[in-house]
Amino acid sequence: MSRVLTGDRPTGPLHLGHYFGTLANRVSMQRSGHEVFVVVADYQVLTDRDAPGDLRRAVRELVRDYLACGLDPDTTVIFPHSCVPELNQLLLPFLALVSVAEMSRNPTVKDEIRLSRRGTVSGLMFSYPVHQAADILFCKAELVPVGRDQLPHLELTRTIARRFAERYGQIFPLPEGVLSDVPLLPGLDGRKMSKSLGNGIALGDPPDVVAARIRRARTDGDPRIVFDPDGRPEIAVLLRLAALCAARSPQDIAAEIGDRGAAALKALTTEAVCNFLRPLRERRAAIDDAVVTEVLRSGIARARDIAAATLAEVHAALGADHERPLVAVSG
Ligand code: TRP
Repeated sequence: MSRVLTGDRPTGPLHLGHYFGTLANRVSMQRSGHEVFVVVADYQVLTDRDAPGDLRRAVRELVRDYLACGLDPDTTVIFPHSCVPELNQLLLPFLALVSVAEMSRNPTVKDEIRLSRRGTVSGLMFSYPVHQAADILFCKAELVPVGRDQLPHLELTRTIARRFAERYGQIFPLPEGVLSDVPLLPGLDGRKMSKSLGNGIALGDPPDVVAARIRRARTDGDPRIVFDPDGRPEIAVLLRLAALCAARSPQDIAAEIGDRGAAALKALTTEAVCNFLRPLRERRAAIDDAVVTEVLRSGIARARDIAAATLAEVHAALGADHERPLVAVSG
């Protein structure tokens, strides 16, 4: 069994793209006995904006989404990284292990700078991948399930672990990335399903919202429904969505609709999505505020224990453990 760490920025409700892309995989890793850590990357929200918005609410809603999907807080550790000071202290020695050139070359950071369309780039934008290395290494994670865009960050994390070992001694295992094998679920307009593009279906969306979103999806005029992603991309988006939610193949659904056209396909898709989301919504409704508070409290406590132990090891390796002034570790 391995230690697994992954996480999300708390920037809004999770959608079906997240579910099929990563959440389902986290739940199955948890069920097969891996020790799963989920970091709520609240500091990362500040990379491309001046203020994080209603962060408290966003974090708590994210925790609700996790629990609704089946993450079990008795075994899975869920914590916002801002609440783990010992993790944050790892940033300083880690920054010494990477060059400014390496930070400037990161392709994901470059894309984010371009997309943020801001006149200035903050120091956090450049250095957050080093902080992300602290997210991963503080608990000595071995497996890191991520999307393709996160691979440069993972490579940097491995570089930091390797250089730390060369200079000070081996503390950290080299974490391996685990790419999700589910094909990307596109949004209803065919682009990547994304919070900011508004083309997704959130896990908490009620049936009337789901129906309205699917009704607005574009289709073509051909009443015969076939699964042809290149020739009929708009129809393929709906077929994929229905297929994932109903655990069937897109071809099978296309055959069932036959020549009854886009309206019948939209009706079937709406029903499949609503049936899929119903149990999640019911579980979500049963999670009250006190549960969320307790999940965060216990997740933070566990993360802090582990981070304090790792920080003590790092200080000892650096020769900076004179009076252990920074960490409260007994013994
Ligand atoms: N950068 C990730 C994202 O934007 C979130 C994240 C923060 C993360 N720390 C992490 C992912 C550590 C994996 C491991 O989605």
